[in-house]
Amino acid sequence: MSTVTIDSALPFGSYRELGNQELRERIQKAKRELGSSLLILGHHYQQDEVIEHADLTGDSYQLSKLAADSADCRTIVFCGVHFMAETADILANRPEKLESRHGARVRVVLPDMAAGCSMADMAAIRQVESAWEQLGEVIDNSDITPVTYINSAASLKAFCGKHGGIVCTSSNAKAVLEWSFKQRKRVFFFPDQHLGRNTSLKMGIPVEHMPVWNPHEDVLGGNAEEAIQSSKVILWKGHCSVHQMFQAVHVHQFREKIPGIKILVHPECPQEVNDIADISGSTSKIIETVRNAPAGTKWAIGTELHLVNRLKKEHPEQEIHFLSPLVCMCATMYRIDLAHLCWSLENIVRGTVVNQIHVKEDVARWSLIALERMLTVR
Ligand code: 13P
Ligand code: SF4
Repeated sequence: MSTVTIDSALPFGSYRELGNQELRERIQKAKRELGSSLLILGHHYQQDEVIEHADLTGDSYQLSKLAADSADCRTIVFCGVHFMAETADILANRPEKLESRHGARVRVVLPDMAAGCSMADMAAIRQVESAWEQLGEVIDNSDITPVTYINSAASLKAFCGKHGGIVCTSSNAKAVLEWSFKQRKRVFFFPDQHLGRNTSLKMGIPVEHMPVWNPHEDVLGGNAEEAIQSSKVILWKGHCSVHQMFQAVHVHQFREKIPGIKILVHPECPQEVNDIADISGSTSKIIETVRNAPAGTKWAIGTELHLVNRLKKEHPEQEIHFLSPLVCMCATMYRIDLAHLCWSLENIVRGTVVNQIHVKEDVARWSLIALERMLTVR
């Protein structure tokens, strides 16, 4: 029997020249060849032409569950951003899963390594560790539950695992904060100040007890000692560049122009928008809310553009508007396109896997503790 050894990956360059129809056909062919050994996961912010090829779609919580529960597949191609692929790698390769597969790993592939998340990049592990140390000088660290939004690097999830903390998503943030307050009397929430503040406000925590920690300030994140000592939730000064574009004035303009319109937003939007919206929730909650509304309902939706445009197409029986007059799209989610998807799939078929995300063993072990807590708190 002869063996063919293929040792170099197909270069990406030539894929740029291919038309969408050819790319579509080649993606479908690669999917047929890989069969059930391949699972393509797609986040709701992906472009329609990419979503078309996803086996399963979801919000961050659902996609984590799908990766954790995956059974037959040996490769997950993640059409989303870097932190999502890291989370999938940790959950799909946790010890009991590896054991059930006799040590074989599920490979997680991110079609374009430049698909990061600007919010996740706003909190680096050395900044979080330095903040933790400084907090310990004015309050007791053992009184604080660290909570990281899933939109963060695996090293931050590991930090939470090590320090009795947890990961949250936009769909379980309230339940996670309730869990956190059962453990300890304060929460240190990173990297999204808006999700942290909006959720805490809904739980009745006054904004005066939520100091904002600016990692670029040398002393106590720019706070007075007393502000930290009287805190309930310490919020990291991070945000989503897409959702911070939605403003209260956009809500007022729609309400004036279209009486009866309902405002539906993501909790990554600033407080001024969340406070006056009719409904706020994760991408899946936004989709479900529109799906379950009677025909003729009028909406102005404050979340990423590709999802809102898809909802418009899927629900012609409703009147759907994008909440901002500006284009609010996630440039990094948009990095995943047909060319990168086709390139990564054809390399998997050839056995020359590209862009594999493999979280270091030590980081994965500690992150898993915080992620497993997240999956049980709902
Ligand atoms: P969800 O899909 O979990 O609501 O997250 C939105 C988001 O910003 C992902 O990056
Ligand atoms: Fe990150 Fe915002 Fe893009 Fe989500 S929408 S991936 S939070 S930049």
